[in-house]
Amino acid sequence: MANTLNLGVAGLGTVGSSLCTMLETRSDHFTQMAGRAVKVTAVSARNRDKQRGFSLDGVTWHDDAEALARDPNIDVFVELIGGEEGVAKAAVEAALEAGKHVVTANKALLAKHGVDLARRAEAKGVALNFEAAVAGGIPVIKTLREALAANTISRIYGILNGTCNYILSKMQDEQLPFDEVLKDAQQKGYAEADPTFDIGGFDAAHKLSILTTLAFGVSVPFDDVHVEGIEAVSAADIEAADELGYRIKLLAVSQQTDTGLEVRVHPALVAKHSAVAEVSGVTNCVAIDGDYIGSLLLVGPGAGGEATASAVASDVVDVARGLVLPPFVRPVSALTSSNCAELGAHQGAYYVRLTVFDKPGGMAAIAKCMADENVSIESIVQRRPDSELPGGDRSGNSGQAATVILITHKTTEKSIRDALTAIEQAGKVSQPPQMIRIEVL
Ligand SMILES: NC(=O)c1ccc[n+]([C@@H]2O[C@H](COP(=O)([O-])OP(=O)(O)OC[C@H]3O[C@@H](n4cnc5c(N)ncnc54)[C@H](OP(=O)(O)O)[C@@H]3O)[C@@H](O)[C@H]2O)c1
Repeated sequence: MANTLNLGVAGLGTVGSSLCTMLETRSDHFTQMAGRAVKVTAVSARNRDKQRGFSLDGVTWHDDAEALARDPNIDVFVELIGGEEGVAKAAVEAALEAGKHVVTANKALLAKHGVDLARRAEAKGVALNFEAAVAGGIPVIKTLREALAANTISRIYGILNGTCNYILSKMQDEQLPFDEVLKDAQQKGYAEADPTFDIGGFDAAHKLSILTTLAFGVSVPFDDVHVEGIEAVSAADIEAADELGYRIKLLAVSQQTDTGLEVRVHPALVAKHSAVAEVSGVTNCVAIDGDYIGSLLLVGPGAGGEATASAVASDVVDVARGLVLPPFVRPVSALTSSNCAELGAHQGAYYVRLTVFDKPGGMAAIAKCMADENVSIESIVQRRPDSELPGGDRSGNSGQAATVILITHKTTEKSIRDALTAIEQAGKVSQPPQMIRIEVL
């Protein structure tokens, strides 16, 4: 049997401690899977005195993660600290420079610096594996790197943030407002005290940017990803979407179009009968459209210590078996620069919620603004304002706000945006219009 594979693990938090526990309690299993013993030889974290739930006997402790990365006694540097800059980046660079294989779960680091790190790994002939960085326990990186090699991919999309999916699912199931569900998610540990990174769509965008490079062979600067979060999705939108046969999900989509590659993260209406609509709670999914396989859907845990450590361990086993692949499928020299499409050219149907003053001519003016931009309306529902309820004045001239829900036929994003701007400028609405894309899956 080959020599023991020695790991240096930096970061012993949720993922790092699960990984070390897994390797300790299942050492025989890993020896069989890897064809050689796999051992944690050295570690680094901030607090040496913290109880970690596994034994550090005989394991070298480094206060400095960069020193661990250069430790001559390790073969693989496993980075589980997190963060796109700082110590995680410096330590990964140091490990690659020292000719160590690197395994990481750090999506932020890869979204910002993945191509540069891949170039360094290729130059040294070592692995840079990051299965856990996208959708936690779902093996999507291996699927793209290995299983789908024959395919040209036209679209990859999915639910890549469990926090957002939990919030939207609970708003749907329990008819609760966003703020209340966010508080509940924070109490349950599904959302951070500062939830901006998740609910603002940035976490999903990091993962999408990595998937896009793998799937399309393009390097996408993170700033080119269009990102919208779920903060503006209201209980009224969820209810209206439900009545119309849809669910609202935070979708991450990369899609080849006639005008270029669309790379976008935003709330979207998806048909209730679609498989993606059924993915609820903290569960993630990734769908891939390829020319030979058609459509493929992977569903599973997008986070959690054990699920994520399971993905990290699979990367370690690959290294133990001697598998070293270009990190982004193609060598970095074969990656092209992204030709991201302008979102104004995006074609699709739209859901629109307007809060319209209950006055004669209001609906006609809205219809005209839409027609002026060639936006054709598929369906329109006006909810009665309070004045129309039994006991109200029923004049149709109360000036109260009434909710109008529109579904458009396929149009361009520029047209619908221009139409909504015209409606606002005409003074027909009391609040900014809500617009959500409808995604055909
Ligand atoms: N948690 C998940 O479900 C999940 C899922 C997918 C991907 N990931 C990714 O996995 C990585 C780790 O996430 P996590 O949830 O395990 O984070 P975490 O629980 O916050 O753990 C971070 C670890 O890094 C250590 N650390 C912080 N600064 C350090 C430094 N300067 N030098 C050495 N160690 C340092 C901390 O030490 P102390 O323990 O001493 O404070 C802690 O052990 C991140 O990139 C994250 O995005 C996580």
